[in-house]
Amino acid sequence: MRTKVMIIGSGPSGLLLGQLLTKAGIDNIIIDRVGRDYILGRVRAGVLEWGTVGLLDEAGAGARMHAEGLPHDGYSLAFDGRDHRIDLHGLTGKRVMVYGQTELTHDLMDVRDASGATTIYDAQDVQPHDFDGSAPYVTYVKDGVTHRIDCDFIAGCDGFHGVSRKSVPENAIQNFEKVYPFGWLGVLADIPPVAHELIYANHPRGFALCSMRSETRSRYYVQCDLDDKVENWSDERFFDELRRRLPEEHAQAMITGPSFEKSIAPLRSFVAEPMRFGKLFLVGDAAHIVPPTGAKGLNLAASDVFYLFEGLREFYGEKSEAGIDAYSVRALKRVWKSVRFSWSMTTLMHRFPDTGNFGQKIQEAELDYLTHSTAASTAMAENYVGLPY
Ligand code: FAD
Ligand code: DHB
Repeated sequence: MRTKVMIIGSGPSGLLLGQLLTKAGIDNIIIDRVGRDYILGRVRAGVLEWGTVGLLDEAGAGARMHAEGLPHDGYSLAFDGRDHRIDLHGLTGKRVMVYGQTELTHDLMDVRDASGATTIYDAQDVQPHDFDGSAPYVTYVKDGVTHRIDCDFIAGCDGFHGVSRKSVPENAIQNFEKVYPFGWLGVLADIPPVAHELIYANHPRGFALCSMRSETRSRYYVQCDLDDKVENWSDERFFDELRRRLPEEHAQAMITGPSFEKSIAPLRSFVAEPMRFGKLFLVGDAAHIVPPTGAKGLNLAASDVFYLFEGLREFYGEKSEAGIDAYSVRALKRVWKSVRFSWSMTTLMHRFPDTGNFGQKIQEAELDYLTHSTAASTAMAENYVGLPY
């Protein structure tokens, strides 16, 4: 079998890239080690930058998002017992879209199915080969039989634990990493959100986030210990803890109900450089991870896709390699700015074991500055809605 672009990974970055390529008439195959239902069972991102919204529209996958997604013009930073609104729209003229990664992935899978493009699920032992030469290919095992697909390029869209980055020789790649000393415990429940906008709370007991998926489905998080276990957290304990970390008016208004998903995610900043190795490109979480506090991971995956798609379109349309040659540098510039923002928002909003009384005072001063200086809140809002591509 042969295709132009072989895409490893059927998460948001692989599916979005595949759909943009298909629409541009560039043949591609997506391969994933797990199945569709498993991918759709993962509960992750909830906030889309408008650039991501635009790319989903361009991919022809935006209809349900516009019908069911919730455009948000601001969010609250809660500390000292009250809300301090960051007026995203007033400060930047832009907004974000609250729409779950699960739904977005579903929509991209549906448009791909309708386009007739090939997706191979449940493939074992997927391996990229010869990407430093002129004839790359991917092998995989399915139902006990080994298959080979030849291609022009390989897009490694296979997430942080994928095979693509691991296939690059160690001396060709540089990793930058920061691991945070806490995790996020998240629950999903069919209860109305406590407020119309997201609440990011800084509290002496730790960070909390109130987000949502719809007017009737809430997504809530609390900072927890890294070695904590989901089994330690009954719904009752979770909601008691969440309430304690919120301003009184929200604590009192909070409606609780049984959760149907509960998981703990560790927090990490990670960047691999470069993002291109011959005919192999790393895209999205395969190349970088950010702590979720700034809501940037999925959006960075989308901007990587944008740069790579532009490069591939130029390559096939105009026989120019300029775009693919520039991919890594262009993508990394934006990646590092989001890595910086995600790190700074994480540092601002969480309790660290070694914060101490000095660190505590600095955090309080920064929160006060951010919420009372138009210049500072504009900088925060500009990063949150997404820097330009
Ligand atoms: P993935 O979604 O990880 O997809 C990779 C795919 O590759 C998977 O389907 C996997 O099965 C497949 N794969 C892996 N290994 C192999 C292999 N060896 N062979 C074949 N296939 C393979 N981001 C935001 O922008 N906003 C948010 O609000 C936000 N909130 C988050 C909250 C939480 C709790 C978490 C955990 C993440 C959040 N993120 C957020 C981050 C976001 O979910 C990720 O950045 C996003 O999933 C990246 O997409 P991806 O397609 O690059 O990788
Ligand atoms: C959600 C997750 C985030 O990390 C964030 O910053 C905002 C929202 C969410 O899951 O809804």
